[in-house]
Amino acid sequence: MRKPIIAGNWKLNKVPHEAVLLVNELKRDLIDVEYADIVVCPPFTALADVADTLTETNIAVGAQNLFWEDSGAFTGEISAPMLKDLGVVYVIIGHSERRQYFNETNETVNKRLRAALKHGLKPIVCVGENLAQRESNKTFDIIKDHCEGSLKGLSAEEMKGVVVAYEPVWAIGTGKTATPDQAQEVHVFIRGLLEKMFNKETAQSVRIQYGGSVTPDNITALMAQPDIDGALVGGASLKSVSFVAIVKGTKK
Ligand code: PGA
Repeated sequence: MRKPIIAGNWKLNKVPHEAVLLVNELKRDLIDVEYADIVVCPPFTALADVADTLTETNIAVGAQNLFWEDSGAFTGEISAPMLKDLGVVYVIIGHSERRQYFNETNETVNKRLRAALKHGLKPIVCVGENLAQRESNKTFDIIKDHCEGSLKGLSAEEMKGVVVAYEPVWAIGTGKTATPDQAQEVHVFIRGLLEKMFNKETAQSVRIQYGGSVTPDNITALMAQPDIDGALVGGASLKSVSFVAIVKGTKK
């Protein structure tokens, strides 16, 4: 049994005091949840305060990116040891917005992923096709390219600690969710790829989240699919009411 994992990707939103207000509400409403792993990913500037607020709770903190070197002359970057020191547990890697606006490639995703694993951070690696790619029937080619390129060289043991997020770019922030069947189809394909790249046991144990306009209204139908193991939530993670309802929607 794969335990559901719901992660909130706050993107470029919330200064520290707003972030602390939100996680205090989440703490209050989600304190008893044991059926799902819960993660919040604030911007770098709010990580320290959020991590302090969530110490010894069932809500883990994630970062939205990291650099692959530990330290040195890399102005503007943040490393895995820096995140670990703050109490960060998870890190999102290769989000489509980073691929689209910040020249992220499979190669750089792979470097970040290795750095995260080396330092014991739990990576959430994002893959997904855009609208033109879906409309020209290239979805599976893109997913294969993202998975093979991003996860290259990992051992099966390392892969077991990775969460994969399938996020069709056309569904992110658009209100246009993939249907549960569309998502399930790609999740099965990803699991099949993982089986070929690693082995069956690894493929069965890796959690694959769906992301793209997840709301309290569609989470239950998505979670009813056998290969959907949780969600990476953007917009709806910025308010406690909707994020709490999404977490609660994963209860079987
Ligand atoms: P959304 O974003 O839920 O606002 O569509 C999801 C994501 O980008 O992770």
